[in-house]
Amino acid sequence: MTGSPIYELRGVRKVFQTPEGEEAVILQDVDISLQEGEILALLGRSGSGKSTLLRIMAGLVPASSGEVLYRGRPVAGPVPGVAMVFQNFAHFPWLTVLQNVELGLEALRVPQAARRQRALEAIDIIGLDGFESAYPRELSGGMRQRVGFARALVINPDVLLMDEPFSALDVLTAETLRTDLLDLWSEHRISTRGILLVSHNIEEAVLMADRILIFGANPGHVRAEIPVRLPQPRDRQSEAFRGLVGEIYLIMTTRPTLRADEQLREGVGVAYHLPAVSVNRLAGLLEALAALEAVAGSPRISLPELAEDMHFSVDDLFPLLEALVLLGFAQVGEGQVELTASGRDFVNADVQERKALFARHLLERVPLAAYIRTILDERPRHVAPIERFLGELEDHLSEEDARRVLETAIFWGRYAEIFAYDDNARVLSLENPGV
Ligand SMILES: Nc1ncnc2c1ncn2[C@@H]1O[C@H](COP(=O)(O)OP(=O)(O)OP(=O)(O)O)[C@@H](O)[C@H]1O
Ligand SMILES: [Mg+2]
Repeated sequence: MTGSPIYELRGVRKVFQTPEGEEAVILQDVDISLQEGEILALLGRSGSGKSTLLRIMAGLVPASSGEVLYRGRPVAGPVPGVAMVFQNFAHFPWLTVLQNVELGLEALRVPQAARRQRALEAIDIIGLDGFESAYPRELSGGMRQRVGFARALVINPDVLLMDEPFSALDVLTAETLRTDLLDLWSEHRISTRGILLVSHNIEEAVLMADRILIFGANPGHVRAEIPVRLPQPRDRQSEAFRGLVGEIYLIMTTRPTLRADEQLREGVGVAYHLPAVSVNRLAGLLEALAALEAVAGSPRISLPELAEDMHFSVDDLFPLLEALVLLGFAQVGEGQVELTASGRDFVNADVQERKALFARHLLERVPLAAYIRTILDERPRHVAPIERFLGELEDHLSEEDARRVLETAIFWGRYAEIFAYDDNARVLSLENPGV
């Protein structure tokens, strides 16, 4: 890594207008550089603003404020040296593979003969030889994504911006395509000088990147930077690889736990952004944790192993963990999760005992649930329309989030039988409450 960076982003901020006319801050204080000769991975949860950032870098949408420099110049529109690869390969179905690939060059006004020549080269290099005259629908998912890569590579891009390019593929196909791309890159068979890879997948990032940025949400910002100093090709089974994956899990799981802990300490209260997960899934995870604990012979379960065992992505796992920590059924720390005594009691309880235990924890630890119950207790007829609570939540949350948070509190409260809810009348009540 020498000289000036290919990309430099300083204090980038992006604000969208919501349909209700409010401002939603999607990116805040984003400082990123892409260095000459590096693969940089951007790892973050769904909705953290990764795709938005990529579009800003490509010049497809402007930042609201901050600096975006490409090769030292401010980005003011689509950047010619930059190609993108997307998760969903949007090809033209009525064009052949060759025609699809050539298309990228038409905009650059490359003459017909040269266009064909370069498209054939790109097709060759990405392993689509023999499929030039096929139509996209005749190809497997992996081959279709190769067309996506060929379309990007045909312009001999200086920079590749890749938005989860492997996540729609099955495991084996994804791995083959990753390896092929890494080979092209490390053998300098492509002219590309820098790659930014957006990913959900921690292992993919550790496998491919020279440096990993962990992106946090609400608003999107860089939370941590992790250099990957393992030589290529990397061995997923090696201790160093596993260690790094574990370390990243650790960083990515600190926040949900912290949030839950902070809220309990400070009593942040009613408008806490409850993770929208069902009681069924919570119970399922508690049972799985108890089973893993028995197999491992230790109460502490490593998060990467848990995710692998349950085929969970980070986005599946974190809201569930956050809810378990919030409810006091599990503790998370140092990349590991452990059932609390109550969590273990829940697993061993029968249906009615589970409800009672859940009710107790819900009332003690989830202020919104306790608040709804208090209001219902205080009212002479013990009923309240949900608008009563929605309005209050909207003082702190967007309309959409307020609805989702209340919905979650209602689902949990109904399961625990601390109040009842009439879907048609949209009314909460104490009819047949269990406690
Ligand atoms: N044009 C837009 N107008 C309003 N809001 C938008 C717009 N584009 C994106 N958003 C919002 O910005 C947030 C970030 O979206 P973005 O697609 O960048 O996230 P992401 O990290 O790529 O998520 P994912 O991992 O699911 O792809 C989301 O809440 C999304 O709803
Ligand atoms: Mg995205």
